[in-house]
Amino acid sequence: MSKPNFAPLKLFITGPTYIRDDVKEAALLPEFGHRDAENDLRLVPIRENLRKLAGAGDMYEPVLFLGSGSSAMEASIRSLVADGETLLNVSVGAFGDHYYNIAVANGKKAENLKFDYGQPIDMDVLEKKLAELKPEVVSFTHNETSTGVMNDMKAVCALIRKYDAMPLVDGVSIFGGADIDLANSGAAMYVTATQKSLALSAGFGIAFVSKEAEEKAATVTNKGHACDINRQLEKARKNQTLTTPNGTLINQMWYQLDRIVNEEGIENRFARHTDMRGMVEAWVEGLDGFDMFAAEGYRSPTLSTVVCPQGVTVAQLKQQVKENLRAKGYLMDPGYGKLNAALEAEGRRVIIRIGHMGDITPDMLSDYLAALELELKKL
Ligand SMILES: Cc1ncc(COP(=O)(O)O)c(C=O)c1O
Repeated sequence: MSKPNFAPLKLFITGPTYIRDDVKEAALLPEFGHRDAENDLRLVPIRENLRKLAGAGDMYEPVLFLGSGSSAMEASIRSLVADGETLLNVSVGAFGDHYYNIAVANGKKAENLKFDYGQPIDMDVLEKKLAELKPEVVSFTHNETSTGVMNDMKAVCALIRKYDAMPLVDGVSIFGGADIDLANSGAAMYVTATQKSLALSAGFGIAFVSKEAEEKAATVTNKGHACDINRQLEKARKNQTLTTPNGTLINQMWYQLDRIVNEEGIENRFARHTDMRGMVEAWVEGLDGFDMFAAEGYRSPTLSTVVCPQGVTVAQLKQQVKENLRAKGYLMDPGYGKLNAALEAEGRRVIIRIGHMGDITPDMLSDYLAALELELKKL
């Protein structure tokens, strides 16, 4: 058998992210049958700990969708936008557009309200659009991974509710790294994934489904099989997945969620993420010619975006900075491709992203920032 030649890189990209050795070792826990009592030993605590991390109380049912975050996003669209209804999607970047594209690919009547890169949702503009379009459903991104902007989820949901529409929220890159206080959020369905701030491999879309969403979905037709949240909920309530899950990832998820809730502590985990955002802000403050990209007050605690000095090119970031850091054992993120291409084409300054999500520690981040700074100063 040939030997793998895989580099052991520390991932400072914005997901997938760094996985701790003990979480990797949990992959060695015994395989099990997903319709056997052994399944409950894993899924009961997994669902309970997901509820705790979300602050969901009893108001939301956690569901594991096979696939990734997009699988749960698609299910929210298929199950909650009925034929003849209008979906308003609100986008502050590439992943906002992704939600819109999923709706269009599923034949839904959808409109995409877009805001400038680096800016959060403008509430006045959204209010005008809600009044004019009168959508039944509104989808938006909690934490925009392409720009590092975190929207004020509660305020946006409250505005959507004022116009009697149902809010669907994509929290893929923030869940597990910040307090989302789901029970008081106003979201009808909140979706996320395993490979970002939960610091596991990709493999499940995770959804928190409210009673209201469940009741509406029961009236919607043509939901498909895996996108049908009523079918999914039936199994989730039995602490099972609809179809055969990745048992290795379930074992790791059981371990990781137990560790987060009972060892690290949820509050400590959230505080660590906020601290790391502060570390990047302080670092940028001390770097000549560099600035934070996302609007102040709306910066993500799980990833930061940094504007490079005028004249720095995407090619330099990709070929020089990224490759030099690879040689030092890091996977660097030279900015979201389409966003940087657009910025560069407009003659504007390009950005880099720094993922500080999941189990990355302040010490790891500090070492990375030092290594990154050395490379950026060579430009
Ligand atoms: C905010 C956001 N939404 C959706 C997605 C898509 O998630 P997935 O790749 O898990 O399907 C991503 C992935 O990066 C994301 O960051």
